[in-house]
Amino acid sequence: MKQQKKGGFTSSLGFILAAAGSAVGLGNIWRFPYLAAKGGGGLFLLVYIILSVTFGFTLLTTDVAIGRKTGKSSLQAFGDVHKKWKFIGPLTFIVPCIILTYYCAIGGWVLKYISVYFTGASAAAAGDDYFTSFITSHAGPIVFMLVYLAITAFIVYNGVEKGVEKFSKIVMPGLIVMIIGISIFTLTLSHDGRTAIDGLKIYVIPNFKGLTLNKFLTILLDATGQLFYSLSIAMGIMVTYGSYVDKQDNLSKSITRIELFDTAVAFLAGLMVIPAVYAFNGVEGLEKNGPGLMFVALPKIFDQMGIVGIIVGAIFFIMVAFAALTSSVSIMETIVASIMQKTKKTRKQVSLWVGIAAAVGALIICLGYNLFYFEVMLPNGSAPGQLLDIADYISNSVLMPIIAICTSILIGWVVKPKWVIEELESSGHKFTRKTLYTVIIKYIVPVVMSILLLQALGIL
Ligand code: PHE
Repeated sequence: MKQQKKGGFTSSLGFILAAAGSAVGLGNIWRFPYLAAKGGGGLFLLVYIILSVTFGFTLLTTDVAIGRKTGKSSLQAFGDVHKKWKFIGPLTFIVPCIILTYYCAIGGWVLKYISVYFTGASAAAAGDDYFTSFITSHAGPIVFMLVYLAITAFIVYNGVEKGVEKFSKIVMPGLIVMIIGISIFTLTLSHDGRTAIDGLKIYVIPNFKGLTLNKFLTILLDATGQLFYSLSIAMGIMVTYGSYVDKQDNLSKSITRIELFDTAVAFLAGLMVIPAVYAFNGVEGLEKNGPGLMFVALPKIFDQMGIVGIIVGAIFFIMVAFAALTSSVSIMETIVASIMQKTKKTRKQVSLWVGIAAAVGALIICLGYNLFYFEVMLPNGSAPGQLLDIADYISNSVLMPIIAICTSILIGWVVKPKWVIEELESSGHKFTRKTLYTVIIKYIVPVVMSILLLQALGIL
């Protein structure tokens, strides 16, 4: 009964879809390719995949198990695990608050690019400066951001996430088919004597030449931050989702599926973007484009497709918008649900206030490209960062490592890994990667994450 009241998932597939809906989003399609490009392609990819099957699996398992065992959302769940570690709850609450602001700003960019394909501006969008002149303009980014945020808030306000999940059953496979199709087309491109196939090599073959310890740590930091972001872990969301999962569900199997799916989408997105950027803008383009990479590269590819490209471009950005929406809804839902539990106010009231607060935050992020423009060199950056990069840095490079360290100490040393293992096996299924899990949560996460945190803070 309790499960139902909380809107529990009726099947393990329901959980997998909802979690995958939260996981697969702009992180995979927009963020992964630009970080992989910045991190030198193949080496980043290798590090990411290794991290995904070790760290990703461990922390996703931990989050979901904490949720299912306590039956609570992240704000309260950690206090239930151990009274003294209650503070992790509020800490996990801050991360989605920060992410929501810039997620809406980028969601707005996606909407802008949908409009590009409906207003005949697709050729102009393929120009080198189109993206920059859009995000530095005053009104455009704000208007699109507000529309994006309004859609997200509308869904949360009405509590119709379930409908969105159903929708994502169609959107997700469609998106993947499109990404694969676009990638194949991309590989046929060449420009100024550079071929996309060479770009592909950069993307998949690790290059260790000139690698310094500092460079490696930066790659490791970026890849870890990306992994957490992409899997929506270390920020309470998966704890909350875990609390909805049925006690009979085979958690370890579901988790493996979510992880594989999320990583596959990220890999494919990189395949679609990186070889093309190399062909059009060379290595320089890969290193310098930053958060704008996808928006700069894809319009060029679509433009090369001629008339068909306009249709492909429109459908593609619409699907990206849906993938992004299932994620931003999960972010806002977490915030709203936590505040509702604390204040006992209605969903509608809280959604409204959170929506307004997010609008103010996102507005500031948008203005970071004109009115509030400044350049700051972040410890993990290769190009000067603006407000959006700072928000991203604080949430992904600073707060997430802190949460991961705290969680790993709590589970690895205070309540001991068996706390989680028992929960996974409580359904009668075997947890096959038990030893791996124990070693990682006890030793590897605290050590590696501490090094990364020092690196993120510029101390190392
Ligand atoms: N994982 C989502 C993505 O890849 C983003 C996200 C971050 C969702 C944090 C929820 C929480 O786009």
